[in-house]
Amino acid sequence: MNDAFNTTRTEIIFNEYKPSDERRREALLALGNGVLSMRASAPELSASRLSQGDDQHYPGFYRAGWYDDAPRRVNGTRIAMTALVNLPDPFGLTFALDDDLWFNLASVKLQRYRQVLSLDRGTLRRDMTFMMGPTREVRLSETRLVSMADPDLCVLRWEVYVPDGGCIRVRSTLNAGVRNAGVKRDAAYEGRRLQTIGFHSEADGGAAVLASLHDRSREVAVAAHTRLSMPAGPWQQAVMGDCLCLEATCDLPEGRTLIIEKYVTVRVEGEIPRHEDSGVTLSIMLDQLRRRSDFDSVLQRHAAHWHRLWGRMAMQMTEHHLALPLRLHRFHVLQALSPNSLGQDMGWPARGWQEGYFGQIFWDEIFAMPFLATHFPELAHTVVNYRYARLDMARALARRSGYRGAMFPWRSGRTGGEETPPYQCNPLSHHWVPDHTCLQRHVGSAIAYDVWQLYLATGDRSLLSHNGGELILEIARFWASMVRFNPERGRYVIEGVIGPDEYHNAYPNTDVPGLDNNAYTNVMASWVLALALELLDLLPDEEADALQQRLGVTPLERVDWDRISRTLYVPVQGDGVISQFEGFDRLESPPPKFRQDGRPRLDWMLEAQGDKTDNYQLTKQADVLMLLYLFPPRELERLLARLGYIEHLAEIRRTADYYLARITHESSLSKVVCAGALARLDAERSWDYFRQSLRTDLDAPSDSGIQEGIHLGAMAGSLDVLQRHYLGIVPSVACLQVMPAPPAALDNVSLDIEYKGVRLSVALKDRILSLSSDPRNSHDACIEYWDNRFSLKPGQVIHLTCR
Ligand code: BGC
Repeated sequence: MNDAFNTTRTEIIFNEYKPSDERRREALLALGNGVLSMRASAPELSASRLSQGDDQHYPGFYRAGWYDDAPRRVNGTRIAMTALVNLPDPFGLTFALDDDLWFNLASVKLQRYRQVLSLDRGTLRRDMTFMMGPTREVRLSETRLVSMADPDLCVLRWEVYVPDGGCIRVRSTLNAGVRNAGVKRDAAYEGRRLQTIGFHSEADGGAAVLASLHDRSREVAVAAHTRLSMPAGPWQQAVMGDCLCLEATCDLPEGRTLIIEKYVTVRVEGEIPRHEDSGVTLSIMLDQLRRRSDFDSVLQRHAAHWHRLWGRMAMQMTEHHLALPLRLHRFHVLQALSPNSLGQDMGWPARGWQEGYFGQIFWDEIFAMPFLATHFPELAHTVVNYRYARLDMARALARRSGYRGAMFPWRSGRTGGEETPPYQCNPLSHHWVPDHTCLQRHVGSAIAYDVWQLYLATGDRSLLSHNGGELILEIARFWASMVRFNPERGRYVIEGVIGPDEYHNAYPNTDVPGLDNNAYTNVMASWVLALALELLDLLPDEEADALQQRLGVTPLERVDWDRISRTLYVPVQGDGVISQFEGFDRLESPPPKFRQDGRPRLDWMLEAQGDKTDNYQLTKQADVLMLLYLFPPRELERLLARLGYIEHLAEIRRTADYYLARITHESSLSKVVCAGALARLDAERSWDYFRQSLRTDLDAPSDSGIQEGIHLGAMAGSLDVLQRHYLGIVPSVACLQVMPAPPAALDNVSLDIEYKGVRLSVALKDRILSLSSDPRNSHDACIEYWDNRFSLKPGQVIHLTCR
């Protein structure tokens, strides 16, 4: 662990400035409000160098779901890769004393440094004391926030104290010359995403820019207003390249503190005031910004919003080593998707709203959905809506590949088209390596699973009779069109796909990408087909009929779905272990001592040596084990029974051991999945994985992938493991199932959830799980504790023993 690092129950603290760790901290301590997202980069570096970062520093400012698709030439091919746009950097701020140099941390003698992320209040502070020149001591306190109360507002505030006062020059910048350059190996796909339409500045410290995407299809306006607490000379303005630079001077009396505040607002498209003259547009924005209330009120409203959000995801536990990471994970979940996101067109970003993976959307919401649906169902709807808005595109993708229904892309951005980069640059060999991971067709099943989780938690039938139902049926239809009947086996097969484990893209010695019968994919396809039928049974006839009519689902199709769902092939090895895909066991055995910490990336390392992970029985992340993660034991039993593989449930422990000995955990998702999957098989090992997964980003090495963005899927997954696997809270159609399976080390923990509009508290102490219904609930909750069903009345508490 980083020795400069410290935590309290609600704070992450760095007591030392460590340039080599800055990029990681910028991502870890990033602030967001579900609409805007700001990396925690130092404003003085933006302002004093008038450039965009360096190896140790990368300012990034993003609008959730705001992508650009400008084409680039990559490896000789023209490719339009969707990427979250790095917005103009409005936070540049520095100062100089008398005629001295502009302040930045590299040029002063630092005496004290403390950076604190307050998770409760959603603020980031830096407190520093340093010497400027041989004699001038300066104390600087910085506070920043991305307002949870005002979705378009960010504030940066500096309190500058120079004991003996003097003349201070303040420089405040707005840099529109930024590029997307956060991930070096993606440089060929990235670069400049915006072009400046116009700048505007005003004498009272206002600066604003209007910019557009390459094809002028979409516009963004960023305005910053710098306020000083003391009279200053008029702001001098200069445009340097694409950077607007404002400077003002004031006399700081001895013993007084100069307060500098930067209020920043961002508008896109329809939110930008309309005027043919961009100067007028920007001046209207600045005027609105100027009228925003003072910092104390902004902070108070912001903190009050956070307070309310925490109330909806309350969790108490005595263990500090659990409390802090789980709080950090909830914090980032709500920073990515918050009540401010309602009505916005945005999915669930794998790496938060930062540049990692181009800010794109994968399947990672599957790890967040059970938590979101039981705490913030309205936000879970936003995530489903993102998919629904792209259903037509998914239909088109299916048609183009010769299938029916909806084939969702593995990676998506704005349009919902497939956005997996066709080539990845291996930073070790500098080779362009083809990327076939878009063959991960299992993403569609994940979307169906998400919709179903939302239904189970809310009982919202209209979800099934409308958008959610359409998604599930069209995904089922896709699977039914993708399978092929194999007469020798008398079963349906799914060929040419890739499972969650991205180390296997193709069979050894072939150039044809894709593998046959990935067990996870096939079982999930069977589950989706059966779900489509269950859904139609569950809906009242008229709603089921209307849904089928809308989609043209025929009785014959339903018969097909039923048959396929019962006769999909699942590969099993000679000893009864479920095979990740057909032929996995024929690959070379893993090298005796491969590292299970995912470093260095094995696929890169082998590729650089002319070899491939495809050749080995090695997996990047949990694949078959995903089934144990997603489904409670009885449901998995039902699934395998439906498919006619029930006897292999007896080998599930051996199946788990087999894969655990072959995983590198290079994906951040892997350990959290293993924790959930093992909860009922091997509690101790599960706990070990869980604890490791809590430290994924907190203890990540400075030079690791977190520099590019947090690992939001793994963060959300840890909340899911605690709630669903350990406390055993599993919503089902009729009842809330309660099947606690806490590891021995987990005790004294409680959390609140919402199930079908009923607020419940769940508390674990001494292996007794107490479930209480809020007295304000308007109706009973149906609870199923293993085989016992009962009603929990408002105000009632029950105590259940953990088996
Ligand atoms: C994993 C995927 C995941 C993606 C984004 C990849 O490394 O293999 O399963 O969806 O990261 O988190």
